[in-house]
Amino acid sequence: MESVERLANKIKNKVVLAKEEIYEIIKNYTDNLISDDDFLPFLRAVYKYGLTDKELFYLTMAMVETGKKLDLKELKNVVDKHSTGGVSDTTTLIVVPICASLKTNMLKLSGRGLGFTGGTCDKLESFKGYKTELPINEAINLVKQNGGCILTTSKELSPADKKIYALRNKSGLVDSIPLIASSIMSKKIAGGANIIVLDVKYGNGAFMKDKKSAILLGKKMKKIGKYANKKVIFVLGKMNQPLGYNIGPKLETMEAISVLKGESKSSLYKESVKLATHCVRLSKHIPYFIAKYLVKKSIKNKSALNKLKKMVSCQGGSLDLFDEKYKKPTLIVKSQTNGVVKGFNTKEIGEIVANMGTVKIENDDVINYENGVITLQKINDKVKINDPLFYIYANDMNMAESVKMQLLKCIEIK
Ligand code: URA
Ligand code: CA
Repeated sequence: MESVERLANKIKNKVVLAKEEIYEIIKNYTDNLISDDDFLPFLRAVYKYGLTDKELFYLTMAMVETGKKLDLKELKNVVDKHSTGGVSDTTTLIVVPICASLKTNMLKLSGRGLGFTGGTCDKLESFKGYKTELPINEAINLVKQNGGCILTTSKELSPADKKIYALRNKSGLVDSIPLIASSIMSKKIAGGANIIVLDVKYGNGAFMKDKKSAILLGKKMKKIGKYANKKVIFVLGKMNQPLGYNIGPKLETMEAISVLKGESKSSLYKESVKLATHCVRLSKHIPYFIAKYLVKKSIKNKSALNKLKKMVSCQGGSLDLFDEKYKKPTLIVKSQTNGVVKGFNTKEIGEIVANMGTVKIENDDVINYENGVITLQKINDKVKINDPLFYIYANDMNMAESVKMQLLKCIEIK
């Protein structure tokens, strides 16, 4: 399409786009007046050449304007959080119920799996019957009732992100500072919270490979927030190995449940406590150490666990998973040497699990919620020959054998 090419060329030649031009292309794409193929040159240009801060703000607001903006005035203390994405990054399922149990209201708009990272909505759907698409009024009522609600982008809330996100996922246009910043901030601004806590991940299991680009991404999102009158803070999180042990929608949900049951003090636990503490301290205006005490207590006394149960049943989900035991894995991958774990190819592990049918690529793809991998070792762990490294949950032994060969290339033992 000629007008799209024209905008793409302007971006390439560093000619600043007008607000109207950005709003028009985003609206037309969202309204299906521009096809995926015709829209791609614009996305590619943003991916390759970036945007100025003002252009990025207009892109974000153009995405917000394709849907409704939530008015949360009647709720007090509303905070939102979002991770830029990683492997086994299941903090939302832990942080939202913790905050909700402490009367820090959260209405969280989450996405599906993107690239090699899992999506919160896919994880939630492993509670059978859980509805992630809710009418806005219902979501607000749930926050009033329970203090928390997690739902997905929809025709109502940032529909542009829903479409662009899916197209980026199909076209390999995911790891881009302006595209990630606008995707996340459009959801956060449409979501209506005044305080936004961003969890910016970097390392070989994240979209940002190093600390410097993570800080840049954090600053860009903060700037968008500032233009939109939101209080935004970002917390950096290193990810050179999966955050938790489990990877795959249902496995990750089970791990989140075990953290809320107080059974795990893993890095997933620690990261979740840190994020929840920031959310609670900002919403209540209390010091970090007091917020941290409250957060830990909500896990100890099971109030966060009970809150998650409440949230799940209010959104139509079955509670069976709360008491489910792990099945026998399809295959156990054992160490072939003695040594110390030196590192992981974290992104590749995420990709392997995504390729097991746990991430939607085409709209009509069906997610396999049960498939995935449990990693049993962390960096610096000592392993002996025949110690288990990974549990594989696969459709069948053929898939498991192929996953095993791939996984063995993703762990370095010396
Ligand atoms: N999470 C999002 O919601 N969008 C991105 O682009 C990346 C992570
Ligand atoms: Ca995500």
